[in-house]
Parts: sequence; C-alpha cells; structure tokens
Amino acid sequence: MLVIAHRGASGHCPENTLAAFKKALEMGAKAIELDVHQTLDHELVVCHDNDLRRTGKDRRALKNLHLEEAKTVDVGTWFDKKFAAERLPLLSEVYDLLPAHVELHLEIKKGSSLYPGIEERVVDLLHKRGVRERTLVSSFDHEALYSVRSLDAGVRLGYLLGLTRLPVAFKEMGELKAESLNMSIRQVTTRAVKAAKDRGQKVYVYTVNHPADRDKLAKLGVDGIFCNYPELDLWR
Ligand code: G3P
Ligand code: MG
Repeated sequence: MLVIAHRGASGHCPENTLAAFKKALEMGAKAIELDVHQTLDHELVVCHDNDLRRTGKDRRALKNLHLEEAKTVDVGTWFDKKFAAERLPLLSEVYDLLPAHVELHLEIKKGSSLYPGIEERVVDLLHKRGVRERTLVSSFDHEALYSVRSLDAGVRLGYLLGLTRLPVAFKEMGELKAESLNMSIRQVTTRAVKAAKDRGQKVYVYTVNHPADRDKLAKLGVDGIFCNYPELDLWR
C-alpha cells in the first residue's frame, strides 16, 4: 500500500511548505500530496486554502495577491517558531526538490471558475518539467478535471469524490479516464472499493494517520493512503 505524505510530512512541519516536503523525502516518502492555487499574476502556489488564514491572521485571498506579496507571508510560525522562514512555495519549487522516483499527487483546489487558466498552467508545467508520468492530478472540482483531460489525453487523473454520488462518480471517472477514486476515510465502504477495483481503478483514502486504519483499508484492497506521518509506512 502506498503511503502518500499528505501536504508533506504535515504531522512534523507546517503543511504544504518546503520544510514539510523535505522532511517527507528525508523520511523516505515515495509519494507526496499538495494543494495548488493561483496568484493574481498567475503563479501556481502551494497552500491548502483559498486564503492565508490558516497560517495566521492574514485573511487575504491568494487570487488577489501578487506572488511577490504572497511570498512575504510567514507560513511557518503558526506551527512552530523554528519554521518562521517558511514562505508559500511555488509548485515549481516543489518539483525542484523531488527526485525522479517520487510521485506527486497534485490537487487543484479550484479550477478556472476561481483561477482563470489554472488547468492550462498546470498541464504546461507538467510538460515543461517532464513530470507528467510521475504526477497524478486530482480535484474535488470535476470541471477542472474535465478541462485538464481536454488539454491532454495522457495526464493521470484522480477523482476526489466529495459530495458526488458514487454512480455519478463512476460515470464521470469513465469519461475522464481517471486512474483513481480518492475519498475520505469516512466514505469508504467495501462496496465502493470493490466497484472501483472492478472498473480497474485505484482507491486512495485520506486522511489516515493510525496503523489500525491503514491495516483495515489495506485488507479492503485500498491502494494508498494520504497520511500526515510518512513513518506510517514503517510502523508494522
Ligand atoms: O487529496 C486528498 C486530500 O488532500 C483531500 O482533502 O482537504 O486535505 O485537501 P484536503
Ligand atoms: Mg489536498
């Protein structure tokens, strides 16, 4: 079972920072997950929310900030003051860190309805960096997945279930040629996992931080878990 470092090693470091990604790599993570947004000047940046409130008192939305302004924000102190130097990472800065054997689960938080052209920019980056084969693009925003698919028939896609009903999800996953069904641990059922596997799709589950849950999901045939503690790969 693949253990995917969720927002980096976010149990040890501030989530979605270069410190969290470096820590995950040090811990031997074979796959990393992160969340992508777009700034006012169309730069792809890594952060969980549409705004910066999770990292402190700054409530400004990323879509209204130029990269230069966004880069002045301390995104580490909220977790521990030793991370005060952490700044919002560019997606390309994360790829700079990643060795070729590490897979990136790139979650687009919102497509063009909020961030005009974000899908094109993601696909373009995958091509320019030569990382298409080791990246899996996922989203709760299924329109964004359709846009990515229309731009490139070969991009690997993960379908984040969210509130979509399973029959609709399977129909859309078929249309999208999605590689995986990604769902919350609260949504997992034997039937859902079997239905995905019968269709040749993988199942990835978030957020799983306990060995007992990992083992239960592995028994069900789940292919991977998003986990804040990459060391869960080793605790047996
Ligand atoms: O991609 C899996 C998981 O990250 C989805 O939820 O809120 O942690 O981005 P969230
Ligand atoms: Mg995510």
